[in-house]
Amino acid sequence: MARSFDTIVVTGGAGFIGSNLIRYLFEKAGYRGRIVNLDALTYAGNPESLADIAAKYGQEGEGRYFFVKADIRDRASVERVFADYRPDAVCHLAAESHVDRSILGPEAFVTTNVIGTFTLLDVAKEAWKGRGEGETLFHHVSTDEVYGSLGETGYFTEETPYDPRSPYSASKAGSDHLVMAYHHTYGLPVTLSNCSNNYGPYQFPEKLIPLMILNMLEGKPLPVYGDGRNIRDWLYVEDHNAAVWTIMQRGESGRSYNIGGENEWENIRLLGRLIEIVAKEAGLDAGELRSRITYVKDRPGHDRRYAIDCSRLKRELGWAQAHSFDEGLAETVRWYLAHKDWCARVRSGEYRRWVETNYERR
Ligand code: NAD
Ligand code: DAU
Repeated sequence: MARSFDTIVVTGGAGFIGSNLIRYLFEKAGYRGRIVNLDALTYAGNPESLADIAAKYGQEGEGRYFFVKADIRDRASVERVFADYRPDAVCHLAAESHVDRSILGPEAFVTTNVIGTFTLLDVAKEAWKGRGEGETLFHHVSTDEVYGSLGETGYFTEETPYDPRSPYSASKAGSDHLVMAYHHTYGLPVTLSNCSNNYGPYQFPEKLIPLMILNMLEGKPLPVYGDGRNIRDWLYVEDHNAAVWTIMQRGESGRSYNIGGENEWENIRLLGRLIEIVAKEAGLDAGELRSRITYVKDRPGHDRRYAIDCSRLKRELGWAQAHSFDEGLAETVRWYLAHKDWCARVRSGEYRRWVETNYERR
């Protein structure tokens, strides 16, 4: 039987995947309960991404959407959210999420991703004492990067041993282990998902696809790391969120599920495809865009290939990807073209300063 929830705390709901998840739950999944968006609003969190949702479902509207600015590392704040809203589910996305940043400054990754996850788990365990399976759920959103790097063949399954290789993936692996430890040791009902690379609207323009789209529009070079032949498996963000919701409702407690696009692309090939789409949608010259491709110094420890076997999720829970890559990319390009103001605002301030100090020197 499917689980149903009255109040879900979504952590990291002002970020890329979290804001798309909240939008998806209210507008597409038919979720009838309340959502509390708990987010510290780091450089990557932007409440503006949910302004329309806040107007429609917040206090002035249906009264089912709440925003709380709080840090998951701060136990007292997390306890207050549990006391004030009495959630029966947590969908945990809050994290430091960018691999390059983790290489230059790993500390925030350890404190937010490991200690923050621990804090949430521990508060949930205390708050949900006496309420067991079927009554509460902690869903943890994680990454395929915990499995390490593949050669030319093979796929990550749920049985692949963890082998994280960047501070980001090591911190996510640590958080995954804590989630499973809280299930096995204390009986906390949990589900866990490990997903491949997402793309779509509202993604912070430090990640490959939005960074390249904006650089194309702004006449800047298109920086390709190393030989450009690293491979990622791309999934449209709404397909990821549909999978997360499927797992929250019907996934088996104590189990992990891989989520992927079954859509592998070498970075340089993906960039070629993106150039064609941007040229068409923005009326630019594809040849001129191609001439701006610039090979730059490789990312240290750059994982070569990720590829996900998501057959468990497909076979057991009936999920499937709904968006083709061409459709999803065109949709994404059109969104960035129509939201230049959003891009300008998220790139001002802290992110600009970080780029200037860490990137543009190379
Ligand atoms: P993001 O960087 O866009 O958003 C992260 C959000 O977490 C932001 O709103 C930020 O303000 C918030 N946050 C950061 N530190 C916090 C703290 N200490 N307390 C409270 N809030 C805090 O990230 P994203 O790309 O949306 O990723 C969301 C989750 O999904 C992460 O856990 C990430 O590891 C995982 N994931 C991402 C991808 C991807 O391709 N982006 C793929 C698989 C898994
Ligand atoms: O696999 C899931 C992971 O995907 C998530 O867990 C992470 O949160 C998310 O950031 C993403 O990690 P990647 O490192 O794969 O994504 P990124 O967009 O940073 O880079 C994608 C690929 O493109 C990678 O091989 C590095 C390369 N790249 C990236 C940038 C930003 C470039 O060649 N040039 C660039 O400027």
